[in-house]
Amino acid sequence: MKHEVIVSAPGKLMILGEHAVVYGRPCLVTAISQRIKIRAVRLKQPVVKIDAPDVNLLGYEKRVAELGKGAVNKGAKFIETAAANFFEKYPVAGGAKLETVSDFFPKFGLGSSSSVIVCAIKSLSDLFDVGLDSREIFDLSYRTILDIQGKGSGFDVAAAVYGGTLYFVSGGKIIEPIAIETLPLIVGYSGVKADTVTLIEQVAQKAKIYPRIINGVYDQIAAIVENGKIALKNENWDALGDLMNFNQGYLESLGVGTKKLSDMVWAAIDAGARGAKISGAGGGDCIVALAGGTRAAVESAIEAAGGEIIKVEMNAPGVKVEQCV
Ligand code: PMV
Repeated sequence: MKHEVIVSAPGKLMILGEHAVVYGRPCLVTAISQRIKIRAVRLKQPVVKIDAPDVNLLGYEKRVAELGKGAVNKGAKFIETAAANFFEKYPVAGGAKLETVSDFFPKFGLGSSSSVIVCAIKSLSDLFDVGLDSREIFDLSYRTILDIQGKGSGFDVAAAVYGGTLYFVSGGKIIEPIAIETLPLIVGYSGVKADTVTLIEQVAQKAKIYPRIINGVYDQIAAIVENGKIALKNENWDALGDLMNFNQGYLESLGVGTKKLSDMVWAAIDAGARGAKISGAGGGDCIVALAGGTRAAVESAIEAAGGEIIKVEMNAPGVKVEQCV
């Protein structure tokens, strides 16, 4: 019987395909080196205790039977809902104390929520010897995201579970690893926190008014992703840069751009980036630029446009056990 398990899972960066992926199209996502860790300790009592110091949550406690019911603390909701789903599906005896340690700030929009959910499910699975495989961890974690935010493709959950760089279709219909050695992307944070659900809703409203146009845009984005998959496999950065620029145009047409994001994208292009685009829902959060041989110049240009460079490595490993006692 295990007493303590420490697991970690990566954040993510959308390369191509956001928004369209919510509606049955594919996307390309890479896992990043920033990770969240959960230390799970087994408890005899059927209670779940949560400590998440990065969101100022200490000493939160709920009985297993009450998980997800009544008032759910904002800072605890991801772990609590994940634990509720785990204990409902696998009614093991006892409880657990879950403590998070984060490498990165939730504010960047780099996937801390999906990463913490995946860590919670994986740590409970290992602590109670349930032995969930990657697909089962994905399914339970994706269900948790849908319980909390109602919408989402699950691409971020897939990155946290499988790691690497993935070709992903909504809901995990296809999760295909793409073997690459390098991915010379630069990440710039706009300083503005974006709300993914609001942006998905905004695009859905547009699709109600202009269904033919928006569906056409989604189809074009899907074609960009298919080409992007080949470009990535061949490390054809010129092609990937072109495709990122096409994708940026379509994201602008969906109305998720902002002046700040555009300024950063154009600054990157003017400084020699092969391509640059919004990464994620838009409205704020981050842009991603493909550096080529001009990394330092592109980084300075993004900073001069008011962005903050976030140093991350791409293609990071998925959820893993760091320690087990
Ligand atoms: O804002 P982010 O980084 O969580 O990305 C959202 C990407 C969307 O396609 C808009 C939503 C989704 O779940 O795929």
